[in-house]
Amino acid sequence: MSSDPIILAIESSCDDTSAAVLKGRKVLSNIVANQEIHRKYGGIVPELASRVHQQNIIPVVDTAINQADIKKEEISAIAFTKGPGLLGSLLVGSSFAKAFALARDIPLISVNHMQGHILSHFIKDSNHHTPSFPFLCLTVSGGHTQIVKVQSTIDMEIIGTTLDDAAGEAFDKSANILGLPYPGGLLIDKYSKNGNNNAFTFGKPNIKGLDFSFSGLKTSILYKIKDNIKENPSFVKENMSDLCASIQYSIISILLEKIQKASELTQIKQIAIAGGVSANSFLRSELEFLANKKGYSIFIPKLEYCTDNAAMIGIAALFKYEAKDFVSQAESPSARLLF
Ligand code: KG4
Ligand code: ZN
Repeated sequence: MSSDPIILAIESSCDDTSAAVLKGRKVLSNIVANQEIHRKYGGIVPELASRVHQQNIIPVVDTAINQADIKKEEISAIAFTKGPGLLGSLLVGSSFAKAFALARDIPLISVNHMQGHILSHFIKDSNHHTPSFPFLCLTVSGGHTQIVKVQSTIDMEIIGTTLDDAAGEAFDKSANILGLPYPGGLLIDKYSKNGNNNAFTFGKPNIKGLDFSFSGLKTSILYKIKDNIKENPSFVKENMSDLCASIQYSIISILLEKIQKASELTQIKQIAIAGGVSANSFLRSELEFLANKKGYSIFIPKLEYCTDNAAMIGIAALFKYEAKDFVSQAESPSARLLF
């Protein structure tokens, strides 16, 4: 019988309540409950998010344990997301995990959400293909845009970050300007498939080094649309696919330019992507194109491990479990947690 530990992981940093069970690096279950309530507000309402987490947490954990086909008694440790994220949301996951650890008398592990996104590449699945150290990870989500130099599972350095909006925010805010529901990244990706990337051009940021900026692009999109609507009130509707494709092209080009620069500067040719925006089909295909051109080895997570999920918290927790890096009941979440 294998002695791989069984870890129950909880992720509740934003608006998805998720629980996963891992046996070693293998995911036995990974349940995610999305919160539909925020759609009508055009963004996440923190107070509502924490209330829905409270409603979801027990059924989600229960489903994860049942689907994994294990008994509670077999769980070796419980892990939760410490931050960064919304404090009220993080509190629900951390309180649950602490109570569970206490009740079952098992170790408690706290995980940085962004490190979880990065370490999702070490989940063992059918097409197991993991990066070796060091590698670069472009971590792009609704709250973050970072280039991280990953030296080991615990030694990570942010070498580029956004000075304003995150890439996911740029997608979501652009979608909002187009009248699309929140979160609009996925819809922009979908509509772009029938559009022309070069139909419209928007102002490009000129940020030195490896940092990013997306707020100027958002303003440029807003003004272009406003100007055109003055002439033709149906402008957005008539040009939806071309607008989406051009917006997507602009955002992804900014990301790819910086990752190339980071590779040149560090001489690292192993490139991974992670976070919600790594689900973007254009980013995935362009990165493959770039890999062929530049000789990169690229690592693209399975779609279910791109957006927020507890399996990524579980894999990060496994490395901490192996290092006996446990926390006490005094551990508290941190909304602005750095690496
Ligand atoms: O990692 P994630 O699930 O949550 C955060 O930690 O923020 O990322 C969510 C972000 C949202 O901004 C969403 O619009 C974006 O990921 N997203 C996408 C796609 N799927 C999700 N953006 C572009 N294309 C997609 N296919
Ligand atoms: Zn995330």
